[in-house]
Amino acid sequence: MGIVGAGPAGLLLGHLLHLNGIDSVIVENRSREYVIDRVRAGVLEQGTVDLLNAMGVGAGLQRAGLRHEGLYVSFRGSRHRIDLAELTGGKAITVYGQNEVVRDLIDARTATQRPLYFEADRVSIGGLDSSSPIIGFRHGGAGHEVHCDFVAGCDGFHGICRPSIPDGALTVYERVYPFGWLGILAEAPPSSDELVYTCHERGFALFSMRSPRVTRLYLQTLPDEPIENWSDDAIWDEMLERMTTRDGWRPTVGRIIQKSVTPMRSFVAAPMRHGCLFLAGDSAHIVPPTGAKGLNLAASDVLVLARAMKVYYEHGRRDRLDQYSDTCLRRVWKAQRFSWWMTSTLHRSPDQNGFDHQRQIADLDYLTSSRAAMTSLAEQYVGLPSEVSFDSAGL
Ligand code: FAD
Ligand code: DHB
Repeated sequence: MGIVGAGPAGLLLGHLLHLNGIDSVIVENRSREYVIDRVRAGVLEQGTVDLLNAMGVGAGLQRAGLRHEGLYVSFRGSRHRIDLAELTGGKAITVYGQNEVVRDLIDARTATQRPLYFEADRVSIGGLDSSSPIIGFRHGGAGHEVHCDFVAGCDGFHGICRPSIPDGALTVYERVYPFGWLGILAEAPPSSDELVYTCHERGFALFSMRSPRVTRLYLQTLPDEPIENWSDDAIWDEMLERMTTRDGWRPTVGRIIQKSVTPMRSFVAAPMRHGCLFLAGDSAHIVPPTGAKGLNLAASDVLVLARAMKVYYEHGRRDRLDQYSDTCLRRVWKAQRFSWWMTSTLHRSPDQNGFDHQRQIADLDYLTSSRAAMTSLAEQYVGLPSEVSFDSAGL
């Protein structure tokens, strides 16, 4: 299989195929350092943690991952805890940076000695309607062609695989939000053991972490807000204004070591397959980050794809390949719905009036006082059950 992109989707898929004895070549246009250093997601669902462990790449996760059995929702100056573990029969989420996941997977790939090209130039794909597609690229000054049975488009939202599908073959569903997230990493010990999602009149804010010494915080801003508009002092003033609760809880202030603004969108391209090209992860769908689902959806897509490949190579059966898109999209749409709901319940829209804010508060009041509502949030936040057993994917 030819895999375009060495983000979480491409690397996980490559390792799942390796564990099933299926050859793959991974082609990535950025450098190894760039791919590892990119600061992105941090929340792993229970199923993603179980998957990484079952794949034998969970050592770093077990050493440095922070297991969280609950989270807080904060509004009107008070934090309300939702006990994820108690409401889901013992499930939890683990905070472990995407950087670390990617680093662990690159190490695992390197140990298999299977091909992984970084800094590939002019990557292209062709022959998608044939049974022998080709990935072309330049590397180290030489041209390369990978002749494969299938191509996995794991090259993210801005990649080349989705645009290679002919016009009219895909239906695109999209919503762009009128806000973005300003995210920072700060050298400050986390002042809470668990995440705090805050709905404030001035806009959403989120408290998270990366380690016992590093806090990760987000602030709702305009989607195209230049980061230069925000001095470190202005960021801290706004974080503290939105997050400080009446009991005096607030994030610990520290030196900001990274800051950036990310726009937010919901996006689905369907079907997730065209001929012998299979899209997985952000190349097929984007969720707003509020539900912490992006990375986890990438993992569930490739588990479905790995099982389909195993069934094809072991038994010559194409039924799982044919079901790939429908199987993934059922989960994708539920994650879209959850992420949209979290986003619209917690953020302030530019056209929002007093009624809308009061309705949001009522929504949050109901959420944090009804066991049924908390259970619904908890089962979605820790991750809905997988469509694919590990056993059937060769684990
Ligand atoms: P990616 O991680 O995007 O990987 C795609 C890979 O393909 C990249 O390495 C890219 O360099 C490579 N590539 C692109 N074009 C080509 C090409 N032409 N040829 C070869 N390789 C190519 N999710 C959360 O849950 N919480 C968050 O806080 C959060 N923050 C995010 C912040 C940003 C800025 C972004 C972009 C995403 C964020 N996400 C977040 C989403 C989450 O990180 C993604 O869902 C996840 O990375 C998806 O993995 P992927 O492998 O599908 O795509
Ligand atoms: C983090 C990111 C998210 O999108 C989220 O919902 C929770 C936490 C994080 O980066 O830690």
